[in-house]
Amino acid sequence: MTVREHWGSRFGFVMAAAGSAVGLGNIWRFPYVTGDNGGGAFLVIYLAIVLGFGLSLLMAEMLLGRTAQRNPVGAFRQLGGRAWPLVGYLGVLTGFVILSFYIVVAGWTLAYIGQMARGLLHSRDPDVLGAAFGQFVADPWQPLLYAAVFMALVAWVVTGGISRGIERANRWLMPILFVLLLVLVLRALTLPGAGAGLAFYLTPDWSRVNAGTYFAAISQVFFSFSIGMGTMLTYGSYLSSRENLPRAALTVGVLDCLAAFLSGLMVLPAVFAFGFSPSAGPGLTFITLPAVFAALPGGDLFGVLFFTLLAIAALTSAVSILEPLVSYFIDEHEVSRARVVAVASVVCFLLAVPASLSFGPWSDITVFGMTWFDLMDFLANNLMLPVGGLMTALFVGWAWGRPALKALSNDGDLPQPWAGVWLWVLRVVAPIAIVWILVTNLS
Ligand code: TRP
Repeated sequence: MTVREHWGSRFGFVMAAAGSAVGLGNIWRFPYVTGDNGGGAFLVIYLAIVLGFGLSLLMAEMLLGRTAQRNPVGAFRQLGGRAWPLVGYLGVLTGFVILSFYIVVAGWTLAYIGQMARGLLHSRDPDVLGAAFGQFVADPWQPLLYAAVFMALVAWVVTGGISRGIERANRWLMPILFVLLLVLVLRALTLPGAGAGLAFYLTPDWSRVNAGTYFAAISQVFFSFSIGMGTMLTYGSYLSSRENLPRAALTVGVLDCLAAFLSGLMVLPAVFAFGFSPSAGPGLTFITLPAVFAALPGGDLFGVLFFTLLAIAALTSAVSILEPLVSYFIDEHEVSRARVVAVASVVCFLLAVPASLSFGPWSDITVFGMTWFDLMDFLANNLMLPVGGLMTALFVGWAWGRPALKALSNDGDLPQPWAGVWLWVLRVVAPIAIVWILVTNLS
């Protein structure tokens, strides 16, 4: 086996992990899921899940990787043996499923850079912008072309390897992303009529909460934190044992929540200011933000910048969805990085074809009442990630158990009583919460 690559610096690792976490999940998905689920109350439930076990799971995955220095399948085999590698295989499969719809949306962001640049979206009228979006995604060819371009970009970064590819891209792109996000939030908040959106976002309305709200929140946490499929495990495996994991996990978690919260602040007040419905679904960001830009002096320029950064956020995340399966094939089957990346990218693109056509010619083809796009999103977010996360929690909590604490504390990582709390969260809190939410919603 060849020598395992490592991150060049701590900052590089934290930025790469944050780059994985902050992506379409925060900027595109979080605002519309929050809108769909009643606003403020969703925000509270989301934070409760993050604190309840999201952060613990994030750290558990990083620890698994750092200790085993292997891909998800190899890590579970080395530390657990028996049937545990199945959890790793589930993760590899989940990567394909997520990428198949992720690159479609990421492709939209690329296309919108061009449309903004040409001033095609210069309107404050919801109907005009909604129609433009609907027309674009329904086209059978164009969105696929953009998805292919995006997949090629992902393949390019991942082929570059850990420190020269993934780390280098993230070190620069993440700080820029946050600056731009802040600028746009300020503009959205100063729009006339933004107050109603702010109230919707920040005042919990508990009458709108039901079992489905918890389900949406838990899958959003898994997706946004990049946990449940071995992404953080794989990134942790490129870490030497000196990294202080609790601090790294906390930093990544805080940055991720901050990005999601700010995205809500950017999108929801604008939704109300321009008279859209907050439950417009996946199109929300693509329809409302152009309206904000049209209301800005020099708005087209901001629009170009914004969609560029959205594409970048998507890129650094997509890279991290591809890397676990790449690392699996490199470690376990000794294939070269370039070759795995090439083959996996083609497979992902082929899976993206039906997802993209879901918005156009194939919109009537449904399974269980869902289009292919919705089905992939549902399978990954509501089933595969929570199950992967559940198994990871059980594994670290019970099968690995005390040695996990030792692996964590070899360099004085987490003081008591927090280490004990962490272990019991993984043993009891996370499994009960995940099983309870899955059972109440899927039965
Ligand atoms: N967290 C990313 C986002 O919010 C998506 C992502 C990257 C992801 N890696 C993952 C989701 C692993 C689930 C599992 O856009």
